[in-house]
Amino acid sequence: MTNQYQSAQLKELDALHHLHPFTNHRSLRAGGVRIMVRGDGPYIWDSEGQRVLDGMSGLWTANVGHNRKELADTAYQQMLELAYYNTFFRTTHPPVVVLSRKLAELAPGHLNQVFYGSSGSESNDTAIRLIRHYWVLKGEPKRRIIISRKHAYHGSTIAAGSMGGMAHVHAQTYPLYEGFRHIIDPYWYGESEQGESPADFGLRAARALEAEILAVGPENVAAFAGEPVQGAGGVKIAPETYWPEIQRIVDKYGILFLADEVITGFGRLGTWFASEHYGIRPNLITFAKAATSGYIPLSGVIVDDTIADALMAHDDDFNHGYTFSGHPVACAVALKNLEIIEQERLVPRVKEFGAPALATLLAKFKDHPLVGEVRSVGLLGAIELVADKRARRRFADLGRVGLICRDHFFREGFIMRAVFDTMVTAPPLIWTQTQFDEAEGVIARALDLTLADVAGELAA
Ligand SMILES: Cc1ncc(COP(=O)(O)O)c(C=O)c1O
Repeated sequence: MTNQYQSAQLKELDALHHLHPFTNHRSLRAGGVRIMVRGDGPYIWDSEGQRVLDGMSGLWTANVGHNRKELADTAYQQMLELAYYNTFFRTTHPPVVVLSRKLAELAPGHLNQVFYGSSGSESNDTAIRLIRHYWVLKGEPKRRIIISRKHAYHGSTIAAGSMGGMAHVHAQTYPLYEGFRHIIDPYWYGESEQGESPADFGLRAARALEAEILAVGPENVAAFAGEPVQGAGGVKIAPETYWPEIQRIVDKYGILFLADEVITGFGRLGTWFASEHYGIRPNLITFAKAATSGYIPLSGVIVDDTIADALMAHDDDFNHGYTFSGHPVACAVALKNLEIIEQERLVPRVKEFGAPALATLLAKFKDHPLVGEVRSVGLLGAIELVADKRARRRFADLGRVGLICRDHFFREGFIMRAVFDTMVTAPPLIWTQTQFDEAEGVIARALDLTLADVAGELAA
């Protein structure tokens, strides 16, 4: 349908008619866009014919890689059978039922019921409504405050954006949705004090939750919300002491715990959900992205029996839902995607192969003059670019050098994302040693090219 367009024409039309997410539109128009036309396994191709190694799984999404025929066939078959029906009026359909049972089986603990949406933002909005509604049903309507972390990303809708801790998102939300507080994020490299060990910092960051609960009054607190690994915030991996202490505090004050697993769900850390990896016991898990490996939008929140029982105990509607809650085609594709992940043993493979391969790859660059720290967990990794390694000092105009570096990566044929001056990666779960070797060559070249651009700004 779009083959009739030449790439120059597409670029022109894009500039005229398409507003992009999280984008400086003036500079986009000045610099132009790159048109992606095809994907296959770990690679994508642009309209100039360049093959690019997709180090971001699209956007933390394509866990099984690009262009899997089985997923396309599944969507096609489901469209022929039942392309759409709603789940509002005491109706259901086979894909949503079977997927819900499958998710309940894969999710940890007593998380047994699923409420669906089409994006991570929507699922977090649903979670926020469920959390607050739960406390009303329990006769404690004052419990409205949800404590989250600075630099968290929970989505772009007004509620999810307010729950997130991104200052630049807050600055354009007029006004912020009420009832959220943000504590320090567990980012040892950027937030710890001189000489503070990761273990001590992890405890300090977690205890900020208790301090905040006490500051606002425990009787007003509904929940704590966090991504097991902050992704869009810069792949911030909490020290080992952090999550056990968070769980202890959540339990002590009897508040609900929302784990936003939109990035970490479906194998990224070598477990189906990162909650399992960290031994935490959330009452709600939000998911999206890799549920379908991005082949079609689908998200949801899986809730535990505490919340489901509270809903069942009341003879009243929960007044919330989306036209596409439990979309049949999306659910069928999700089921097929989970089947592929299981059949190809992609989750244990992350533990056995992907995670150590990524850690080994990144460690090769820790002594590069531009690199302050490398870190990874599962198939999430980050490289910190700094002007002064010893003092952990950033470059002036935070984000500038990250963009320079990202452009070198792009030109060299490997996509890493820049979060300010932190280069982050989230490869698909299917990478073999060939892709890790390819990535190594590009990282070396991209870092050296960036170094050449900013050498004059480096500490002596
Ligand atoms: C942890 C997390 N939560 C929520 C979202 C929002 O998801 P969506 O963009 O599908 O609304 C994202 C998106 O990157 C995310 O990383």
